[in-house]
Amino acid sequence: MTQAIVFREIGPPEVLRLESVDLGAPGAGQVRIRHHAIGVNYIDTYQRSGLYPLPLPSWLGQEGAGVVESVGSGVERFGVGDRVAYAGGPPGSYSRERLIDAEKLILLPPEVGFEQAACVMLQGMTVEYLIRRLYCVRPGQTVLWHAAAGGVGQIAVQWLSALGVEVIGTVGSAAKARLALELGCRHVINYREQDVVASVREITRGQGVPVVYDSVGKDTFAISLDCLARRGLFVSFGNASGAVPDFSPLLLSQKGSLLFTRPRLGDFVATRAELEASAGEVFARIADGSINVAPSRRYPLEQAATAHRDLESRSTSGSIILIP
Ligand SMILES: NC(=O)c1ccc[n+]([C@@H]2O[C@H](COP(=O)([O-])OP(=O)(O)OC[C@H]3O[C@@H](n4cnc5c(N)ncnc54)[C@H](OP(=O)(O)O)[C@@H]3O)[C@@H](O)[C@H]2O)c1
Repeated sequence: MTQAIVFREIGPPEVLRLESVDLGAPGAGQVRIRHHAIGVNYIDTYQRSGLYPLPLPSWLGQEGAGVVESVGSGVERFGVGDRVAYAGGPPGSYSRERLIDAEKLILLPPEVGFEQAACVMLQGMTVEYLIRRLYCVRPGQTVLWHAAAGGVGQIAVQWLSALGVEVIGTVGSAAKARLALELGCRHVINYREQDVVASVREITRGQGVPVVYDSVGKDTFAISLDCLARRGLFVSFGNASGAVPDFSPLLLSQKGSLLFTRPRLGDFVATRAELEASAGEVFARIADGSINVAPSRRYPLEQAATAHRDLESRSTSGSIILIP
């Protein structure tokens, strides 16, 4: 037996309960992993609240780091005792132990600790595909990144500034503004107090930015459209404030022949080669000092509901993790 966070109905954080569960032995192609650190990501709140529906009852959590306890038949890539981490796949990382397909795992380099891995596997690979593959940023460009002091945001700001890209970051408080500036933002806008469109137009001398990275969703949709340069790219990759409203393609034409995309990590680490390359890039950026990531808060596994409450109330900054 082990313990896992289970939810039997969608709803507020209180639906998350720690239950005893029977895992059994790993099947063909699977390993049993004992978690040492578990990443908490915004997608977990969407699944818990029902915005991204799951069959119920369900386990939760997309990201974990730990040690291989046992392996099923046919698993050759990993052995007992290996230090591994993963992001994506069926929910279930909010647990002390779980079964998982070996193909989802990445071997951790010795210099990457479990807590650091639980911060960067999902959020770091997300930044990698957003700035290197979905759109390949160039030194000297100015880009707009909303929620720049968040988990994904902090990694993005550091990585982009290491690449010589000027980041205009938006944040929701003065403390987060200070943090975003320290991490490398060239300009920070508090979108609770300032006019984002006017500020971005002023910073870019009226031109607008070539790309907006918007994970806030509903509240920033109209703002992001008006911050883009002609033929700019709107990357809508999250909905922290709620889902983006339906809109007509004509709007993109009226705003300057804009491009709009709604990507997700799973489609950018869809093959073993893509997964290894993306994780390898993230570990390389940690090794060369471009990004420096540590959890800003740790919660015991049984306090997963508190972690969700804090994340959704915008009181966290950076990556947060659960400790099993
Ligand atoms: N598509 C993908 O592949 C992918 C992958 C990973 C993550 N994501 C998305 O990236 C975003 C960031 O994820 P994360 O885990 O790193 O979370 P996070 O950025 O640490 O937390 C979300 C932040 O969004 C901001 N926010 C603005 N309006 C909000 C509202 N009404 N309610 C709650 N938060 C609001 C808050 O920052 P301020 O206080 O500064 O406003 C909050 O701290 C999420 O939308 C997530 O779904 C997408």
